[in-house]
Amino acid sequence: MGIFDKFRDVAAGMEQLEALGIMPFGVEIEHVSSATEGVVLGHRVILAGTNNYLGLTFDPDCVNAAREALLEQGTGTTGSRLANGSYGGHLALEQELADFYQTPSAIVFSTGFLATMGAVSTLAGPGDRILLDADCHASIYEGTRTSGADVIRFRHNNPGDLEKRLRRLEGQDGSTLVVVEGIYSMLGDRAPLPEIAALTKQFGAYLMVDEAHSMGVLGETGRGLIEETGVEDAVDFIVGTFSKSLGSVGGFCTSRHPELELVRYNARPYIFTASPAPSIIASTRVALRILRDGRDLRKHLRHSANRLYKALGQAGFRLGPEPGPVIAIQMDQVEQALVWWKQLLEQGVYVNLVLPPATPTGGALLRCSLSAAHTDSQVDRIRDALCGLRKYQSDQAPIAHNGDRQSPHH
Ligand SMILES: Cc1ncc(COP(=O)(O)O)c(C=O)c1O
Repeated sequence: MGIFDKFRDVAAGMEQLEALGIMPFGVEIEHVSSATEGVVLGHRVILAGTNNYLGLTFDPDCVNAAREALLEQGTGTTGSRLANGSYGGHLALEQELADFYQTPSAIVFSTGFLATMGAVSTLAGPGDRILLDADCHASIYEGTRTSGADVIRFRHNNPGDLEKRLRRLEGQDGSTLVVVEGIYSMLGDRAPLPEIAALTKQFGAYLMVDEAHSMGVLGETGRGLIEETGVEDAVDFIVGTFSKSLGSVGGFCTSRHPELELVRYNARPYIFTASPAPSIIASTRVALRILRDGRDLRKHLRHSANRLYKALGQAGFRLGPEPGPVIAIQMDQVEQALVWWKQLLEQGVYVNLVLPPATPTGGALLRCSLSAAHTDSQVDRIRDALCGLRKYQSDQAPIAHNGDRQSPHH
């Protein structure tokens, strides 16, 4: 038995893709000219498959801040946050995040993945329980695995199922941590936060919300779904990433509990990894200010998302349940999704292709995502390319619909 034999299924899948002449994973982005345009596999494309929700990756103030930090402080810290990796910028950003969320403190991690995984795995331990939404991100699942706590999944966005499970746990020793996301990254749907917050309060559980895809997008000042739904006081822990609306890389955890600071001295994904480079911290700090004041960016993003969602819905595409910056087209047939992904590229539109088992629906997804930097005419071109494919296909043969399926694989 060879060490690579366990990857036999993956290898077979890769061979199939190669035979089709389509390799959508790890595709080289040959050139990026702005937040919304680039060259992919030789095609000039509109980027409609990034998480650049506020379009800040080329913001001149962010770029300048990064450049100055790079020149003044070098390319990297070469050390952990607890050793030589906490510069003034890291501490200032933590304070700014705490001010933004109106919490006593915040902890900056090197990636969003490490922030979520580190927070979950450190806060819950042996004798505790983690209840997580079945569609949670891999970083949350990874945190549950290393926590040592009992792990229970509840049905996606189903407060009734959560309540049933919380009720069963009543009277047990230890703490219960409920983990959900604000906007879910694959279908773009939102958590029913008021109901979930009411339940965690009723049963004395702690609530963590991963706002990776909702920070900057929702809420008057961009504090995500917790702000949009007015449940901030009921949320115990907020985790997020710098790699989406803030246009850089890194992550954070913040909390209304002052004891959050203790996580710093216990989270292995914080302690045993190098801290973010000063240039990353510098651009993130500027981006956070832009995000907070970015009502117009949010408004334009909402306008574009509503337009595209409506047009694709009218064209007969099967979409996620609500409009937002993530608009996912659900496809029953993987081969068709692959062909469409390639044809979109040839027509100048790059979207994400997501295949099972990474999808919550069991089928394939063409995941379109929008940015506040997309112009109306770019959104029109995305719409026209997609609707053109759909029209061509329905002229050939009608699409078979399987209906929604619930088969999350993690
Ligand atoms: C919900 C969620 N949490 C955490 C992460 C990890 O963030 P990062 O990619 O910045 O490490 C992601 C990334 O896609 C995510 O979707």
